[in-house]
Amino acid sequence: AAPLTGFGAGKVILLGEHSVVYGYPALAGALSRGVTASAVKARKPQLALADPFNRAQRALLTKAFLRAADLCGNPSVKVSLESELPLSMGLGSSAAVSVACARVLLKAAGKKESAREVAQVALAMEQEFHGTPSGVDHTTSAMQELILYKRLPDQSSGKARGVKSPRPLQVLVALAGERSPTKKTVGALRERQARWPERYRRLFREVGVVATEGAKAVEAGELEALGDAMNVNQGLLAALGLSSPPLEEMVYRLRALGALGAKLTGAGGDGGAVIGLFLEPEPAAAKLLQQGVRCFTSQLAGPRAL
Ligand code: MEV
Repeated sequence: AAPLTGFGAGKVILLGEHSVVYGYPALAGALSRGVTASAVKARKPQLALADPFNRAQRALLTKAFLRAADLCGNPSVKVSLESELPLSMGLGSSAAVSVACARVLLKAAGKKESAREVAQVALAMEQEFHGTPSGVDHTTSAMQELILYKRLPDQSSGKARGVKSPRPLQVLVALAGERSPTKKTVGALRERQARWPERYRRLFREVGVVATEGAKAVEAGELEALGDAMNVNQGLLAALGLSSPPLEEMVYRLRALGALGAKLTGAGGDGGAVIGLFLEPEPAAAKLLQQGVRCFTSQLAGPRAL
């Protein structure tokens, strides 16, 4: 029989990473790239892992997978993964794995697999990976659309609403610097924030305002206003200590190539992904690829451009 499959989209945060952990809104969109999980019959739930995972990563993935399988009633399937996303680069690879596994496990168990059920199972996996994630990554991946997300005060989950764009929302995603684990940047920020809570609260609050304004700009089709919000968000991320020379350099490169706005996306730190909002991202992507930059383009919302 053909294997069952489940897809988990990668994500980009347009506005509001990190402050979203503290309960402020973030604007995030799903990428067309992601992770596909395939399931075949087996004696008990298992995860088949090929390269590039090391021992510790395998142990963690297996633990998270078995927790998800348990939530789905332990369907007897062996699940393998195929990813189109770079790991630990801020593109939601762990959330995409979680959503892909959740989908295929729910399918194998003959259960409903609406975005809500998928998100619930995926959250259990994300908690194994990240401890206390805001939930924006796996919610974006499960809903597969542009969303404005806010963590709930009890921190168990969040609420999201779809943000419709009358215009195609096209981005270029470029990788810069070294892999940077989310846990590290989130943890370091938590320490600074605990020492100087008022100062950090002011910055988080401002990022949240910018994210809300950005969502309104999207709905009004005002892409220049969205781009400006992204540039301001980048300045605030730098103020929060989340940027670094390779990320800054890439931000300025994308702006020089005509981005309406550019910023780091995801966890930031020593490296990761930078996102640029473009009316036409293809020429910029071609130029960067020529210069050896790892990058790709994606449409996040709005009517599909031809
Ligand atoms: C990572 O994609 C987003 C962060 O805000 C962490 C989180 O939301 O849990 C950095």
